[in-house]
Amino acid sequence: MNREKFYITTPIYYPSDKLHIGHTYCTVATDAMARYKRLKGCDVMFLTGTDEHGQKIEDKAKEAGVSPKAFVDNIVEGPRGVKDLWKLMNISNDRFIRTTDDYHMASVQQIFKKMYEKGDIYKGTYKGKYCKPCESFWTESQLVDGKCPDCGREVQDAEEEAYFFRLSKYADRVQDLLENTDFLQPRSRVNEMVNNFIKPGLEDLCVSRTSFTWGIPVDFDPGHVVYVWVDALFNYTTALGFLNDRYDDYAKYWPADVHFVGKEIVRFHSIIWPAMLMSMEMPLPKHVFGHGWLLLDGGKMSKSKGNVVDPYILAEQFGVDALRFFLMRTFPFGSDGNFSNELLIQTINTDLANDLGNLVSRTTAMVGKYFGGALPQGCGPVADELALAQMAAQGQQISLQAADPADPVLFDAQLVVAAAGLRGAYEGCMESFAPHKALDEVFKVIQRANKYIDENTPWVLAKDMQANGPRLAHVMYNLLEATRICGVLLTPFMPASMDKLFDQIGAGSGCRTWESAGVWGSLPPTTAVSKGENLFPRVDLDKALEQLEQAQADAAGADAGPAVELEPWVEENVDFDTFCKSDFRVVKVKACEPVPKSKKLLRFTLDDGSGTDRQILSGIAMYYKAEELVGKTLVAIVNLPPRKMMGLDSCGMLISAVHHEQGEEKLHLIMVDDAIPAGAKLC
Ligand code: MSP
Repeated sequence: MNREKFYITTPIYYPSDKLHIGHTYCTVATDAMARYKRLKGCDVMFLTGTDEHGQKIEDKAKEAGVSPKAFVDNIVEGPRGVKDLWKLMNISNDRFIRTTDDYHMASVQQIFKKMYEKGDIYKGTYKGKYCKPCESFWTESQLVDGKCPDCGREVQDAEEEAYFFRLSKYADRVQDLLENTDFLQPRSRVNEMVNNFIKPGLEDLCVSRTSFTWGIPVDFDPGHVVYVWVDALFNYTTALGFLNDRYDDYAKYWPADVHFVGKEIVRFHSIIWPAMLMSMEMPLPKHVFGHGWLLLDGGKMSKSKGNVVDPYILAEQFGVDALRFFLMRTFPFGSDGNFSNELLIQTINTDLANDLGNLVSRTTAMVGKYFGGALPQGCGPVADELALAQMAAQGQQISLQAADPADPVLFDAQLVVAAAGLRGAYEGCMESFAPHKALDEVFKVIQRANKYIDENTPWVLAKDMQANGPRLAHVMYNLLEATRICGVLLTPFMPASMDKLFDQIGAGSGCRTWESAGVWGSLPPTTAVSKGENLFPRVDLDKALEQLEQAQADAAGADAGPAVELEPWVEENVDFDTFCKSDFRVVKVKACEPVPKSKKLLRFTLDDGSGTDRQILSGIAMYYKAEELVGKTLVAIVNLPPRKMMGLDSCGMLISAVHHEQGEEKLHLIMVDDAIPAGAKLC
């Protein structure tokens, strides 16, 4: 049988800094969608990766004193890097592309040449503005208050010989695509694109750069590198083997079913991307979905503003599934949402600990207590319930009435109808890219099931097992069955926890499937139930906030500590004049103390010979005790710009030697002869 294919992508991330919770949001959403489609039996291709070229990366690498490749390797493959983060978050991508992969680079060169040979790329001169952080070109009139309209940062003048893509040629076709199809979602993004970018007149796009070298060379014109967005967008096709031999499933998976992207890159995906595909005469992706941002204190998170939230810290403290769930449950996927630790903890406590966790632990505990862990034969669904369930599963509207509103048969019917109809409602939400609404549907059933416990008061029934035993068993069965159906539909969001949940309620592999989620009564009635570990423990708000603060302070200290071992920048020599600009001085330690709340930082008060004390913070508390350094004669570079760490200024850097012994990092401060006076210059 030919399975339906589903190709879904995340944006490929810039490895210019460690990823934050905003990046994690998009990847978790894509993962949940991919897992949902797999659950339904689709043949899924889920691609993610990293977008490693461009001026920003080149500059960052220079700042770090390493080659661009070493720089990105560290962020992508290194400890707590991109790949580690996706592993931790249980991301089930089928493929990971790095735009520095040879096969991708060779394909992009061919793509560029094809568009050039077709006449859609031509040579000219670029004169305008450039936003380095966004790697975006702008005209004067597009700027907002003279700054980048996307990120609000300073732009710089750019004038250079460049190749241009005839974007203007495709303006009408792109406008038609946006206005007359469901290509771009949510619909609200269409007006923004058409009114802000297409109607004012689409200008041709500058697609090569000459002022830096970290990019894919234009092979027929050395000196030019391909504009990073052209390089990046085609990743969606090269990762399938388009114009390369590395993979062989372009024909099978292209066009993409959906690209999930953040709202600020919708322009690239809904205007530039389809235009280039039209030029290449390639099929267009079926959908682009522009999701909102996670905001912190109402603003976008960014490393430069220092307001990023570290997903590692949250996942380690609250658990991966709780974090995944929170991201998908709390923020409507197409809109912005305000992130806060309090909101995260509140969601865990309300939905996971109270609603879902309690349902599972109360039900399994009662099956254990009243039935020794296995329900008796015959407690499963009765014929009327099966008929109702079937109608609900087919999406029929069912109105339930009983003479007595406290009739237990009515309670049963209400629960059965809610749980049996859940899969259809959930599917509708997932198919329209509304995971938050799908979760809302699941939680309505979980809440209904908890209410069902209160309506049936099993502890009262249990007082007379002889009379009420069969009724109690049926109540328990219904609870297990409703829990199971919810569990199946929560699997794409919390895969590891749902496996544990299934083990506890005794749902074997046949009862964990998409098909079984649409069939009330799939769980065998006599299945063995065991009350296991508490799936979602309640979080103490104050204690957790305190721990988070500590973890964040420690992480800030770690960031300030010695960098991980990196391959040195060997491609460029430092000229003598540049070298001479570094001001190394002998300094004497007058005082040294640990920085409160940081495990790594020591605060030095130094005599640098100037007559005024110099303060330097150094992340070396793992190697030295503060008191043992007082009186030592050290070396510092003193003309670095001051840097804030843990709210304190650090004016310079102490010089140390770092090496590795049996995989462990060793650090030695450079100590010189005490006879050398403070302030002596090293040259
Ligand atoms: N490299 C480009 C994408 C190229 S795709 C062909 C890029 N990279 S990025 O690392 O800057 O951003 C990757 C994604 O993370 C974007 O979709 C962006 O919107 C998303 N997010 C970054 N910060 C975010 C939030 N605070 N909230 C939600 N998503 C955000 O753009």
